[in-house]
Amino acid sequence: MTTPRFVGFAGSWSRPSKTRQLVTQAAECAVARFGGSAHVFDIADLGAGFGLGSNPGNAPGLDAHLQEFLSADALIVASPVYKGSYTGLFKHFIDLIDPQALLGKPVLLGATGGGQRHALIIEHQLRPLFGFFEARILATGVYASSAEFTDGRITADDTGARLDRAVAQFADHLDLSPARPALRALA
Ligand SMILES: Cc1cc2nc3c(=O)[nH]c(=O)nc-3n(C[C@H](O)[C@H](O)[C@H](O)COP(=O)(O)O)c2cc1C
Repeated sequence: MTTPRFVGFAGSWSRPSKTRQLVTQAAECAVARFGGSAHVFDIADLGAGFGLGSNPGNAPGLDAHLQEFLSADALIVASPVYKGSYTGLFKHFIDLIDPQALLGKPVLLGATGGGQRHALIIEHQLRPLFGFFEARILATGVYASSAEFTDGRITADDTGARLDRAVAQFADHLDLSPARPALRALA
């Protein structure tokens, strides 16, 4: 792999969404540092009926985004805090993933909340969830409260620095060696 594919998932359906913005800023930072490309999606992208029964017509965006998620070289995953936890539809998306499918996958975890009270959602809820999948969870998670956003972007210096530090940790988990030229067939 020389050009990593980063995929970000925000467990929010709000537009605009602070959580999607956190994921987008992390994805931009990752591409700026490592090259490659990024794809970001959220619950609203899956379809207005996502979570309402098993009819694929309810969630026309699900298959394409799920395939992007599963084939990513590295993931950026975040949820808003709802009632002290990740959102129900965030978990519903994660419940669709085969237990083996994220084995060894590098994952940056994030969350947004109204205040700081539930900042440990990353350590107490998201980290064990991705531990279940035996993913390679980056040591640094990124939590941003509403006060850390200005005009829809994370502008707080300490959170921006934390986001940079977290993204830099992908380096230990990405194969960034140059692509080998194809071997010529021996005459
Ligand atoms: C139903 C609901 C429950 C919430 N519960 C919490 C909570 O328990 N703790 C908290 O810090 N913020 C809570 N919030 C605030 C959101 O987590 C916060 O506004 C978040 O950044 C929204 O993200 P979004 O813009 O991506 O939807 C709640 C918001 C809603 C709508």
